[in-house]
Amino acid sequence: MDIINIYDNSDKLYYIGGVVRDKLLSVKSFDVDITYVGDAIEYCAKFGEVIQENPDFGTIRVNVGGREVDFASTRAEVYEKKGHLPVVTKIGCSLKEDVLRRDFTINALAMSVKTGEIIDYVGGQEDLENKVLRVLHDKSFVDDPTRIIRGLKFRVRFGFDLEPNTRKLQEEYLAHINYDMSYKRVKKELIETFNLNSQYAFELFVKEGIYKLISPEKFDIPKVNIENLINKYPVKLPWIIYIGLLPDLSRIEFTKEEKKIIEDFRSIGELKDDFEIYKAFDGLALESIFLYAISKDMKSAFRYLDVLRNIKISITGDDLKNLGIAPSPKYQEIFDYVLKEKLKNPDITTQDEISLAKKFIN
Ligand code: CTP
Repeated sequence: MDIINIYDNSDKLYYIGGVVRDKLLSVKSFDVDITYVGDAIEYCAKFGEVIQENPDFGTIRVNVGGREVDFASTRAEVYEKKGHLPVVTKIGCSLKEDVLRRDFTINALAMSVKTGEIIDYVGGQEDLENKVLRVLHDKSFVDDPTRIIRGLKFRVRFGFDLEPNTRKLQEEYLAHINYDMSYKRVKKELIETFNLNSQYAFELFVKEGIYKLISPEKFDIPKVNIENLINKYPVKLPWIIYIGLLPDLSRIEFTKEEKKIIEDFRSIGELKDDFEIYKAFDGLALESIFLYAISKDMKSAFRYLDVLRNIKISITGDDLKNLGIAPSPKYQEIFDYVLKEKLKNPDITTQDEISLAKKFIN
């Protein structure tokens, strides 16, 4: 999304955060945030149809010419409970105070809506030029450890590096993690980071020990290049292929679908022949098959994906009824028998399958 033009003469309106960073980097922004030095709910409703407002945070979402724009009042915050959502201490503070509560210098830039002037209290422009990520103060990761994952995300998205002191602070935090943190926020950042489908991100995540925020036990990088795998067979949830590999996922709250993906792959043991492979993977999400491939047995998984999954038996329950067999659990045994034979000889016809069914009953 490009910067949206707001025609307003107030010198209290500023584009803020990611959108300014993205404009200076000449990349597209995901969203546009605008801050108003004062009460945004009161001032910004005039820009279009109000979609929602949140008085606790002083924010308002408005449809501006068909695009949803978030307007926020400048606000100061404190992290009363480290690792959790901060508490707003003041709505309508100065622009400088608002900027100083943020994660990295490159995300702490503002641009006047009226004049286009860049306001940089923290050296964000220089860090953008030098391609470095720098926190604004030494307690930044203690306040909000999700920033370590955000840092990884931005490094990968923009090809940046951690500035040395920020790297040291990350290392220090990872050596003394406080596990009482909001894993809902952690999950959101993990999804955004690993949906980038970057092997490089995963290698940094493991090498630098960032994974310990989720799963403390030692973890090694699997040999398989996951990025290439996902490029070959696109999946709906790329992130889960990376994160699902971690041994301890008890801190993350998964949806029903995600939980099933993980449980399915974990429950499959050694697979000895084509029939076992077929039965184990048939009907499973591609994500589960990949997790199995990466962590247990690549060969079986690819035997299924490249060959076996295209083989289907053609006879149905109706065919068996026509043979005079009354519906019963026996049907499944017959189908399995026919499938076993078809996996050995995929070219057999429906008539051959019926003959096999007859042979089985006799
Ligand atoms: N922010 C922060 N700490 C966080 C999350 C967000 O300080 N844990 C601040 C940053 O200043 C950030 C802004 O809130 O720029 C908006 O957050 P978000 O929309 O998540 O990030 P963007 O920087 O807009 O990046 P993206 O392009 O990924 O949307």
